[in-house]
Amino acid sequence: MKQVIILGTSRSNGNTHKLVKLYQEYSPADIINLSDYSISPYDYEHKNIDDDFANLIKNALNYDHIIFASPIYWYSMSAQMKIFFDRLSDLLTINKELGRRLRGKTCAILATGLEIKAPKCFEQPFILTANYLGMHYQQMFYCSCNEQFIVQKHLPPLISYLGMQSTYQ
Ligand SMILES: Cc1cc2nc3c(=O)[nH]c(=O)nc-3n(C[C@H](O)[C@H](O)[C@H](O)COP(=O)(O)O)c2cc1C
Repeated sequence: MKQVIILGTSRSNGNTHKLVKLYQEYSPADIINLSDYSISPYDYEHKNIDDDFANLIKNALNYDHIIFASPIYWYSMSAQMKIFFDRLSDLLTINKELGRRLRGKTCAILATGLEIKAPKCFEQPFILTANYLGMHYQQMFYCSCNEQFIVQKHLPPLISYLGMQSTYQ
């Protein structure tokens, strides 16, 4: 199964990026960092049709499993991820063919935040959007991070999330 992680965070080497890199060590996946692309907010007139969104989504369609990686910012996905999600609306209007190709793919979330548990309202838009687009939502892997991302704390639950036999001491 080919998997890609779409990362949207305001901090290139921050907690969510560290989680993504850890995940990648144990489960091979390519990364698309939204910060490397120019994607403008949804435009009803589609004047932004030539920005990077269409090529990015075409690339993501090469994968079976799409993982959305975002920190929690004010109970929600990051602004970078929200802009990306808003642009999925292009796939219901001007790029329907690409939208149809999302159907049947699986998806999941990698997330970091300060709170012990992620609020339900964080996960809901991912679940509902996946359902709307005909994707099969699997599960979120959430890391509660204080100041820093501590690998020793997050690796054992990540390994069990991945359904792997733990050799970690
Ligand atoms: C603007 C902003 C808003 C935040 N809001 C929340 C929040 O609502 N809930 C939470 O648990 N953590 C919140 N945090 C903490 C971050 O989610 C946490 O530090 C996360 O690991 C940061 O990931 P990053 O390094 O990829 O940005 C917020 C941080 C920032 C900068």
